[in-house]
Order: sequence, then C-alpha cells, then structure tokens
Amino acid sequence: MDMNMQTFIHLGILGMTHTAILLLLLAGGLLTASTFKICAFNIRSFGRAKASNRKVMGTLVQILSRCDISAVQEVRDARGSAIRILLRELNRHDSSHHYRHLESKRLGRGSYKEQMVFVYRKDIVSVIDWCQLGDSEAFVRAPFAARFRSSYTAILEFVLLLHHASPREAAHELDLLFEVCMELMQKWKTENVMVLGDLNAAGAYVPASAWAGIRLRNNPAFHWLISDAVDTTVSHRTCCAYDRIIVHGEELLAAVVPGSAKPFNFTEVLRLTEEEALEVSDHYPVEVNLQLSPKAQREL
Ligand SMILES: *[C@@H]1O[C@H](CO)[C@@H](O)[C@H](O)[C@H]1NC(C)=O
Repeated sequence: MDMNMQTFIHLGILGMTHTAILLLLLAGGLLTASTFKICAFNIRSFGRAKASNRKVMGTLVQILSRCDISAVQEVRDARGSAIRILLRELNRHDSSHHYRHLESKRLGRGSYKEQMVFVYRKDIVSVIDWCQLGDSEAFVRAPFAARFRSSYTAILEFVLLLHHASPREAAHELDLLFEVCMELMQKWKTENVMVLGDLNAAGAYVPASAWAGIRLRNNPAFHWLISDAVDTTVSHRTCCAYDRIIVHGEELLAAVVPGSAKPFNFTEVLRLTEEEALEVSDHYPVEVNLQLSPKAQREL
C-alpha cells in the first residue's frame, strides 16, 4: 500500500540481511504503512494562492500521501483549479497509487463558500455512494457523507460523515449531527459511521454547560477517539481539540487500530518552524488507522 512495500520486496529478493531489512522498515515507516489510514484535515482556506505556493504544496503532498482517505475541509476556489492541482501533484509524487477526489457542493450562507473534499486512493478504496445532508437552515454548511468499500480493510464497507462546523453554532450542530447519523444509518442500512472533521468541538465554541445537551456526545454508541485534552492546533498559543474523530458501530470500532487516533504533528515530523507550518494550516490533521483484511495481509 506504499512504495516502501515494493522497496521491501525488492530488497528481500536481493537477499539483504534481516538486520538491514529491519533498519529499512523502521526508516521507511513500513510498520505504520501496514494499516489503512484515514485523516481529516482543515487546510485553512485552500485556494489558488496555496496551490501556487511550491513549499506549501510540497508539505501538503507529503501529508496527504500518507493516507488512504483524506477528508479535506476549507477548499475555497470557485473554479476548482486548486484541488485539481493538488490531485495532480499527489499523483505525481506518489506513483504507487492513483488518487481521486469527491467534492461536496460549495457550502455556506451568503457569499462565503467552501467545499469539503474526500481525496482517496482509488486502487485501494472505492466510493459506492455519497450524499449531502441537512439543509442550510439547520447547518451553516451541510455535512457531506460518502460510503466507502475496500477489500483491504478489516471492514468491507463504512461511511465517513465529514463536517466543518460553524464556530458560533458548534454546540447546536454537534447535537444535530446525531440526527444526521441516524438518518444516514437508515438510508444506507449500516451502523458503521465515522464522523470526522473540524467540529470546533472545544474551547469557547462549546461551553462546558453545553456538552450535557449534545446527543452525539452523550449517546454511548458514539466513541470519541480524539479526547478533549488533545491539541489539534498548530499555534503554540492555542490548545484545543477542535478536530475530532467519532466512531459509531461495533464492527467499525473493532476495525480501528487501538490507540491510533491522534493529530499528525507535521511541524515536528517534517521539521518545520511554526511559521512555516502555519502557512500550510492552523490545524493539524487528525487521523486513525483501520486494520487490514486477511486478504491485504497476505498480499503484503
Ligand atoms: C508539534 O511539534 C512542535 C515541534 O516539535 C511542538 O513545539 C508542538 O508543541 C507540537 N504541537 C502539538 C500540538 O503537539
């Protein structure tokens, strides 16, 4: 599922020593690549300015090419060229996969619009259905859902429900997402739904007193994999768990690699300064791994 796999196999054929291979595995990150990775990433105001910035694009491609599915938010380009450039760069950088995208409508009240986009490896996973939920009365930006199928994952089918909550309406929208989930489960006859995205589910946007009224939080069938104590923001001045991953469905929960849900601190991993990282986004992606199917394990 990764270039490293091929490197590994080739080196194996060349008859390297076990130690050398092990070192290579560690260096190449194969141990992390042998799972299926999903991330949600608010790329602050991703439009043509960022798409034409080589350094920013280089970083974005490094981040997104680690994932089998990336649930991207805040795409802001009426002409759609920014996302096309991103896909082109991604396919150029990682030729071991073919990346595709599925985009929402342009969402938002008034003149501010943004899109949510699923970027996925079409050789690993396919989209079998999608829908835009709720209306602009209920949500400032309606959530976007897609139903994925992959023979590589321990669970054959699952739904991702992507949402970018309005900061001022965050508590209300979080509660409404519960109804959206119920609707989706009925529509697609599945229990296995992952809610993800920048839900603005922290800090002043969700006052302590509001949590008690949020069904998505209180219903025990929903498992919040990113806890309140996590920091999903880039700036050292803020410490908030805005971005979340919430899992519904015992099958989907069982397919999740325990402890794998966390922010990807690209400042640290890609050795950027805070300033360089902030040029990419003010959020870190949050990510989670799914276990592989027996078939995928055999192939690897
Ligand atoms: C991310 O990494 C940087 C650099 O190591 C560090 O200063 C920062 O505190 C980290 N941020 C989070 C949220 O972990």
